[in-house]
Amino acid sequence: MDLERYIRDIPDFPKPGVIFKDITPLLNDNGAYNYTLQQLISLVSNEQIDKVIGVESRGLFFGMLMAQELNAGFVPVRKPNKLPFTTISQSYDLEYGSDAVEIHADAIEKGDRVLIHDDVLATGGTAGAVCTLVEKLGGEIVQCNFLMELTFLKGREKLNGHPTASLLQY
Ligand code: PRP
Ligand code: MG
Repeated sequence: MDLERYIRDIPDFPKPGVIFKDITPLLNDNGAYNYTLQQLISLVSNEQIDKVIGVESRGLFFGMLMAQELNAGFVPVRKPNKLPFTTISQSYDLEYGSDAVEIHADAIEKGDRVLIHDDVLATGGTAGAVCTLVEKLGGEIVQCNFLMELTFLKGREKLNGHPTASLLQY
């Protein structure tokens, strides 16, 4: 199946000069998202996964589905001040300024085998910060897993050497 048919380029969104990869047509089609899920799962070797992390917002969709498929727990990583319980936070640099991601302090247990999923690996700022959160909680990162990777931005280099896989490369 040609998944790129289900990913729509939106020029100048959310700001001029950016081409946004819109995955809503993919989510809209049951066959296409099931196929995508199976492909994402096939990137993961036959290892035990205890927790799958989905990164807000667009990493939550397939993150939850992957957790169910891998018989793992699901953990949302969210933008600041969204999670209600005790959190730990990690900031990362943007082109202008910085942003942060948060996780519940009890979401990962020491030694948990963790898969991190997000829709896009771009500069690696977001996923790198998520790796730091997991390391702080004592989790073992089995894979950083993405639907799309913008390879020219070299985001992999920010992932502290953890195994990294993506379904589509641009
Ligand atoms: C986008 C995308 C990834 C991140 C990748 O999320 O969904 O999470 O950027 O970029 P990076 O590798 O340069 O950090 P965004 O922060 O735009 O929020 P959203 O998922 O809520 O749309
Ligand atoms: Mg995102």
